[in-house]
Amino acid sequence: MEKILFKHNGTPNLETLATYRSLGGYEGLKATLALKPEEVVDVVKRSGLRGRGGAGFPTGTKWGFLPKDVYPRYLCVNADEGEPGTFKDRQLMEENPHLLLEGIAIAAHAIAAETVYIYIRGEYEKSIERVERAIAEAQAAGVLPERLKLSIYRGAGAYICGEETSLLNSIEGERPEPRLKPPFPAVAGLYGKPTVINNVETLCCLPDIITKGPEWFAAIGTPKNAGTKIYSVSGAVRKPGNYELALGTPLREIIFNHAGGLHDGRKVKAVIPGGASAAMLGPDQLDIAMDFDTLAAAGSMLGSAGVIVIDDATCIVRSVLSLSHFYQHESCGKCTPCREGTYWLLEIMDRLEHGKGRMEDLDLLGRVSKKMAGRCFCPLGESAFVPIMSSLKFCRDEYEFHIREKRCMV
Ligand SMILES: Cc1cc2nc3c(=O)[nH]c(=O)nc-3n(C[C@H](O)[C@H](O)[C@H](O)COP(=O)(O)O)c2cc1C
Repeated sequence: MEKILFKHNGTPNLETLATYRSLGGYEGLKATLALKPEEVVDVVKRSGLRGRGGAGFPTGTKWGFLPKDVYPRYLCVNADEGEPGTFKDRQLMEENPHLLLEGIAIAAHAIAAETVYIYIRGEYEKSIERVERAIAEAQAAGVLPERLKLSIYRGAGAYICGEETSLLNSIEGERPEPRLKPPFPAVAGLYGKPTVINNVETLCCLPDIITKGPEWFAAIGTPKNAGTKIYSVSGAVRKPGNYELALGTPLREIIFNHAGGLHDGRKVKAVIPGGASAAMLGPDQLDIAMDFDTLAAAGSMLGSAGVIVIDDATCIVRSVLSLSHFYQHESCGKCTPCREGTYWLLEIMDRLEHGKGRMEDLDLLGRVSKKMAGRCFCPLGESAFVPIMSSLKFCRDEYEFHIREKRCMV
């Protein structure tokens, strides 16, 4: 399969303008600037590209929501990458920052935005440095349209900053808490103006969509899940890393053909297919196609495609406890169901893991989750109970063992 995002991986000095251009870089932007913005939106709509930040929303359709004749418009690049198990945007920014810049300039032309904020996770020092240097190089060489103003914003250090409206608040200097929607950012986003927020990987797909055509892109993957996807694979595999494969690649192929399979004698206990917020899959679901729609139909989600493999030597209660700790720590506290719910889920998970659990706790976890479901202000709270409830579905015996024996089963 032809790669789009990692096709030049391993090329020495790929991060420099000279190397990127010698490989055909910025040709997509040149072709874009000869098109009218609405023509670019149409090309992206026809490509079938869906957002790679987690929700899988069609990119061209999102751009089409901007109200006519309202200016200025902003483009915000979501490079916060806070989802546990996800580390793809980092590799893209470190190894190929000009690919991102070209994608940004194409998107900015399509939505007629002249100001771009690139919101990069604060801990990503090397990404920040590489993108900063790439901007300086491209501007000095006159590769980017002169009117395009690009600023890097260092992330404020919380998972919630990646949620698009919290990201806008963070750029505005407010507390990174989610905003009520509607109005959606397309209508009233940054400083109340029409704004598009796109993920790094989404934007990096654009240059090839322009140069090779939307039909070429749409032919990769499955009919409603076009293109390639970077799967970040971690956990109990021999070769953890980022793998760019066609959308819809079976999970089994990702784990065993690409990530090297499990260590000797180990078996899959569970797999988180799309970052911490995605419901776990059991070992009998390894043949599932890894795309937005198939995973949603199976009650999970592709999310950011952070694939975390848990093997039979790992205690599921302990693994879930660490995720419960993450959600409790990262809850911004704005809404009560999330603030209180994540606290109580952590309390219960903590006593289960440490031999102080009671059988009734398993039902209590379900009751707390029910009180949170559909009542939280944003998807963070709606996700906090997902690892617990999904693991209870097929590892209940392990939870019960923990309560009875006051120790791990493995
Ligand atoms: C708690 C939370 C954290 C998120 N973190 C990120 C993130 O780090 N990066 C990202 O691109 N999207 C993240 N998202 C999704 C964004 O809100 C948004 O959907 C995405 O940036 C849109 O870009 P796309 O259309 O290109 O996918 C997060 C969402 C939630 C609810």
